[in-house]
Amino acid sequence: MLPAQRQLYNHPDSSGPITLHTAEDFEGMRAAGRLAAEALDMISEFVVEGVSTAELDKRIQDYVEGAGAVSATIGYRGYQHASCISLNEVVCHGIPSDNTRLEDKDILNIDVTVIVDGWHGDTSRMYVVGGSSFPTREKLIRVTYECLWKGIHAVKPGATLGDVGAAIQKHGEKAGFSIVRQFVGHGLGEQFHMSPNIFHFGKPGKGVELVPGMLFTIEPMLNVGTYKVDIDEEDGWTARTRDRKSSAQFEHSVGVTADGFEIFTNSPRGFEQPPYL
Ligand code: MF3
Ligand code: CO
Ligand code: CO
Repeated sequence: MLPAQRQLYNHPDSSGPITLHTAEDFEGMRAAGRLAAEALDMISEFVVEGVSTAELDKRIQDYVEGAGAVSATIGYRGYQHASCISLNEVVCHGIPSDNTRLEDKDILNIDVTVIVDGWHGDTSRMYVVGGSSFPTREKLIRVTYECLWKGIHAVKPGATLGDVGAAIQKHGEKAGFSIVRQFVGHGLGEQFHMSPNIFHFGKPGKGVELVPGMLFTIEPMLNVGTYKVDIDEEDGWTARTRDRKSSAQFEHSVGVTADGFEIFTNSPRGFEQPPYL
């Protein structure tokens, strides 16, 4: 059962108290998650060779604001855009730019977070310019997508966040890829980033025990080469693989239910499955 009233849950392995949310809160998350997923559906047809990432971001901002919602990333710690657009060796937090134009076979993650009636919806997907890329990049995307689902399927009351991380890590490393450690999933709800941290690696049975009413993202980043990441010193955001080999990421916002999970950011148009692989 979801709690009838919001509660706080403490666990020694958590970075802070974890809010347990009600059925009504889940309603709010559905609306927010849906809009974020719709924005990612909308942008698909515009992801073509030659377009700048600033143009894509502008369309996303217009879409979100046109729906009467607010972008959670504009103004967040000084970030000024409605999306993060991360190409090829960029792991996450790629800044949309007039100077970055898509090229054939580029792979990119577009990450959108919106606020609807106070609730946050946070989701990202991979796109491939021209519909196909190099075999290693395509495999990386497919395995990263599978890792997201391995993590989601581990979510149920009584399981632990170590189970979630271990499922992701096992699948990714078996395929020969590395799991980024420097960035993690996060609790969300009325705030963008909350407790608990969601590690995309770990040990079965360890970590915070999952309880109905928890809301968090799962957003694994996998690399072809080293898991190590450099943050751009000039812009303070762009995270690149240290060896400049490719990286991929998918993200859903989920809630823990009485018997498993609910995904708030499913694609209304069924676009989330990598269609290009
Ligand atoms: N959406 C990202 C996440 O999944 C956070 C982006 S913060 C920004 O947590 F400021 F870079 F946009
Ligand atoms: Co997130
Ligand atoms: Co995100």
